[in-house]
Amino acid sequence: MDKLIIEGGRKLQGEINISGAKNAALPLIAATLLAPGWHVIRNVPDLRDTKTILALLESFGAVWKRDGNVLSINTEALTNLEASYDLVKTMRASILVLGPLLARMRKARVSLPGGCAIGARPIDFHLDGLSKMGARLDLEEGYVNASTGNRLSGGNIYFDIPSVTGTENILMASVLAKGVTVIKNAAREPEVGNLIDMLISMGADIEGKDTDRLIIHGVKDLRPAEVTTIPDRIETGTYMVAVGATGGEVTLRNCNPNHLPALTEKLKAAGLIIEETENSFFVSRPSKIQSVDIKTQPYPGFPTDLQAQLMALMSMANGLSVITEKIFENRFMHVAELKRMGAEIKINGNSAIVKGSKRLKGARVMATDLRASASLVVARLAAEGITEISRIYHLERGYEDMVGKLQALGANVRKEKE
Ligand code: EPZ
Repeated sequence: MDKLIIEGGRKLQGEINISGAKNAALPLIAATLLAPGWHVIRNVPDLRDTKTILALLESFGAVWKRDGNVLSINTEALTNLEASYDLVKTMRASILVLGPLLARMRKARVSLPGGCAIGARPIDFHLDGLSKMGARLDLEEGYVNASTGNRLSGGNIYFDIPSVTGTENILMASVLAKGVTVIKNAAREPEVGNLIDMLISMGADIEGKDTDRLIIHGVKDLRPAEVTTIPDRIETGTYMVAVGATGGEVTLRNCNPNHLPALTEKLKAAGLIIEETENSFFVSRPSKIQSVDIKTQPYPGFPTDLQAQLMALMSMANGLSVITEKIFENRFMHVAELKRMGAEIKINGNSAIVKGSKRLKGARVMATDLRASASLVVARLAAEGITEISRIYHLERGYEDMVGKLQALGANVRKEKE
């Protein structure tokens, strides 16, 4: 396994390009299962997770080729309809193949996702919704055996919690179903909107994009898509927080500032200068960071995927910050590692009280999940001295060329074999 060696204490200066969104690319790639022929998806990041879902589609018989960040996929000949545990266990989002396989092939066998560092992460909303649409779902030996004799039929689906991949799975199942599907309390994340744009480009009939109520009129078949992945708002936010931690002046290009309303407000309140155009951010930190409070919420609230990164920043701020995690039941894995670096953090239920202190100290730390790893990088970039972060394969799941981008911004960081 690889590790990162970071010499902290240097300001970030310069500009980088933001990559396509991991959490948009995954459902877009899964949606190619809905129609035979060559699909073209642009701005696809080259990540561990995109490699995993492409391996999954390949195991079904799909073929694909990549030219830079343009991905062409053909799912004409699907010969195997089983998503094996070996692949699914490394990425929960593999469950996104269930809806499209059922819709087009009328059967699928998908391994249940493994546990995850940030909580149980059940898939009951996905399964309840599909069974409401007429699917037969049998759970056995850790697999979901799904089948539907005839076409799936439209259904009335209500999510207790606006599940992102739950909404995406039911959307992909509904576009080829017989009749109308209504999804209430649907997720409104921009990545769901990106999938809706793709499905409409394939001939789907969907109303309500960016709202919590989606109405889908099923059609008989769909044509291959041509779609562009939206910029990664979590990668963008991670680098904005990093500027807050190290100081400096950075321009982030090929991003979408409209997708980060909550973070932008919070970072301005913390003292950052943030200017935006329609596809770029300019971020600088003129003075010491002030503490702010956050509560993670479904979009457009503060994203849970930026909670760990903000906590690292608040560890260096002036004052007390209360950070409340309302999406996942165990997303404070980064607290122990930040405390090893001298951060003063007390957990009280789903809230963490962070007492900002001067600089964090160096210490060997270990990454546990994707966004916790990113929070450690943010903290290390600001901490004095040279330190290392092990198990950085977590980072490589969701951040394209992070080492190259940080080096382009003047950070002293390199990757080494463990
Ligand atoms: C998506 O996960 C993202 N992943 C996550 O990003 C993100 O943190 C999350 O949405 C919330 O924004 C992808 O898009 C691939 P949920 P997802 O279903 O869809 C509960 C990252 O770091 N729930 O919106 O799995 C669930 O336990 C990852 O890039 C059920 O109870 O999240 C959670 O408490 C991490 N039953 C809440 O809903 C279900 O069937 C929201 O989860 C589904 C979800």
